[in-house]
Amino acid sequence: MDTKIILITGGISGIGRAAALAFAKQGDTVVVAGRREMEGKALQAELRAIGGEALFIQTDVRRDGEVAALIDQTVARFGRIDAAVNAAGTEGQPGLIVDQTAESYAATFDTNVLGTLLSMKHEIRVMQAQGHGNIVNVSSTFGHRGGPYASVYAASKHAVEGFTKSAALETAGAGIRVNAVAPGVTQTDMLDRFTGNEENKAGLLSTVPMKRAGHVDELAGAIVFLASDQAGYMTGQVLSVDGGKSAG
Ligand SMILES: NC(=O)c1ccc[n+]([C@@H]2O[C@H](COP(=O)([O-])OP(=O)(O)OC[C@H]3O[C@@H](n4cnc5c(N)ncnc54)[C@H](OP(=O)(O)O)[C@@H]3O)[C@@H](O)[C@H]2O)c1
Repeated sequence: MDTKIILITGGISGIGRAAALAFAKQGDTVVVAGRREMEGKALQAELRAIGGEALFIQTDVRRDGEVAALIDQTVARFGRIDAAVNAAGTEGQPGLIVDQTAESYAATFDTNVLGTLLSMKHEIRVMQAQGHGNIVNVSSTFGHRGGPYASVYAASKHAVEGFTKSAALETAGAGIRVNAVAPGVTQTDMLDRFTGNEENKAGLLSTVPMKRAGHVDELAGAIVFLASDQAGYMTGQVLSVDGGKSAG
């Protein structure tokens, strides 16, 4: 199989990082984007040690110019972008709706919604020119359900799913597929920040039919599948990976 060029925002940690390692292990070239330079460079070295090409490009997805530069530098270095995974995200400031502010709204929406929009805008620009491409956004179980104590986050992920479906319809005729994965409770730094302590985490896990958190490799597997030719007739879809949560 030909080596694919894969771009991953939010690739430094958690689900994005697991996806970066999974693509590298199957021989793909991986470009990871995020804000933390030291961790990004360490991951770049780890990915190169697996055997393929890899590059970290420091990027804040909330800034149009930085996202444009990320995409342009990737194309300048590797010639194209076969697949892009938009995993950059934040849990924001969880809490009741009555406690939300314009600032807490912006802190969540700027990364999760504007960041996804800017990423797709520049990825699609390149994919349209090359005549093919494949985008996997990262939503959440909260992207199609209510999120008590996480309403702003839930609303932001609803927007990600709206963008995913709209972009899929706009680009299907151009050889581009746009899908999303919707993780349920998955063991990452974000889950620990979101729950705050072991008691809250156990409470959240008790609502999962499989009674455990997902492993990042289980999310990476779904992302690699959606980015592969095996999912070649899928576009505009949201694939839930949530231990059964969305079945009920
Ligand atoms: N863990 C879960 O239970 C769960 C459930 C549903 C959905 N998700 C979604 O999964 C995705 C990955 O989250 P995770 O759980 O793997 O948590 P994570 O480890 O905190 O990953 C989030 C990543 O996004 C990056 N990021 C945040 N803001 C950014 C910005 N403005 N520009 C560029 N990169 C930014 C972070 O890197 P830097 O800080 O270095 O920029 C980090 O690597 C998120 O979209 C999240 O909403 C997670």
